[in-house]
Amino acid sequence: MSKAVVSGSTEPCVPPPSAGVNRIWAVGGGKGGIGKSFISSTLAICLSRMGKNVTLVDLDLGSANLHTCLGMKEPKLSLSDFISGRANTLDEVSSATEFQNLRFVSGFNDALNIADLATEQKRRLVGALRAIETPYVILDLGAGTTENTLDFFLAADEKLIAATPEPTSIENAYRFIKSSYYRRLRDAETELGVRELVEDAMDSRNKLGIRNPADLLRHVTQKNPAAGESLHRLISDFHLHIILNQVRTRADVELGHSIKSVCQKYFGVECDYLGYIDHDNAVWQALRKRRPLIVEHPYSSIVGQFLNMAKNLLNPHSVRAVI
Ligand SMILES: Nc1ncnc2c1ncn2[C@@H]1O[C@H](COP(=O)(O)OP(=O)(O)OP(=O)(O)O)[C@@H](O)[C@H]1O
Ligand SMILES: [Mg+2]
Repeated sequence: MSKAVVSGSTEPCVPPPSAGVNRIWAVGGGKGGIGKSFISSTLAICLSRMGKNVTLVDLDLGSANLHTCLGMKEPKLSLSDFISGRANTLDEVSSATEFQNLRFVSGFNDALNIADLATEQKRRLVGALRAIETPYVILDLGAGTTENTLDFFLAADEKLIAATPEPTSIENAYRFIKSSYYRRLRDAETELGVRELVEDAMDSRNKLGIRNPADLLRHVTQKNPAAGESLHRLISDFHLHIILNQVRTRADVELGHSIKSVCQKYFGVECDYLGYIDHDNAVWQALRKRRPLIVEHPYSSIVGQFLNMAKNLLNPHSVRAVI
C-alpha cells in the first residue's frame, strides 16, 4: 500500500462525530461488490427487529440501489430533494418500509452527482444526518476512497469496514483504512500546526521514513511532544469494526484477526473484529427475488451472525472479544 488519500482542497473536512442526538453507523470498505449494501440493509433490519428505530441511508456515490436490498420499489423522494433544497430535513425525504421501526432515505436519483457535492452541501448533509429523528442511522457507502465517501465514513460514530477473504478486497480495505485515517489527520493538522508533517507523511516517498499513521504520530511526538499528545487525543476516537463477509473456511475466519493485528501494529489504529458472515447462496438468491434474506430465511445462521454483530454494536463501550 503506497498511496494515501490525495486531497485537492485545503478546506477542512466535515467535523468528526460528536455527542449528537443519534448514533450513526457507516459501512465502508473500499472495494465494490463485497457486500456493503447487503450488510448495511441487513443490520438495519435486525436493529429494527430488536425494537430500535432506525433510518437506513443510501450514500452510494454512483449507483444508489439499496431499496432493492430492502425489497422495495425506488421511493419517489430521495436525497436529491434534500440537496436541491426542496426538503429541509432528511426525515422529510425518508420513506416507510415494510419493517416496523425502519425508515429509508433513497440515494441520488437524478443527474446530480453526489461526488460533486460542494463542501457546504456536504456539511449540510452531515448535519442533517445527525439531525435525523431516529436514534440509529445506518449509512451504506459506495466503493472507492473519494473524499466524500471518506467524510461520511468519518462522520459516523461506529465505523464498519467490510472485506471478503480475497486478497484484492483486503488490500482495498487497508487502503480505505489508511485513506480515512489520513483524512482524519488532515482535520487535525491545521488545528495543531503539524500541517507540513502530515503532508510529508501523505507523500509515499517522504524522506522522513514515515510509512504509516503510527510512524507519523511517533515523529510528531519526537519533534513536539505537546502536539504529539494532542494529535493522539484527536485521533483516539478513530476506532474501527472489521466485518469479514463471504467466509467459507476456518482460515477465512482467521483472516479477520490478521487484519485487526495489521491495523494495530502497522497503522496504530484501534479496531475490533466485530464478526464474520458465511458465504451462502441464499444471499444472492434472495436478492434476485428482491426479498431481504431475513424475510426469506429468518432462522438462518447468517441472520444469527448479524444479530450478534448488532448486539455488540449497541454496546460500543464494552470490551469486545467477539470471535
Ligand atoms: N455472504 C454472502 N454470501 C453470498 N453472496 C453474497 C454475500 N454477501 C453479498 N453477496 C452477494 O454479493 C453481491 C454484492 O453485494 P452488495 O451489492 O451488497 O455489495 P456492495 O459492496 O454493496 O457493492 P457496491 O460497491 O457495488 O455497492 C450481491 O449479489 C450479494 O447478493
Ligand atoms: Mg452497495
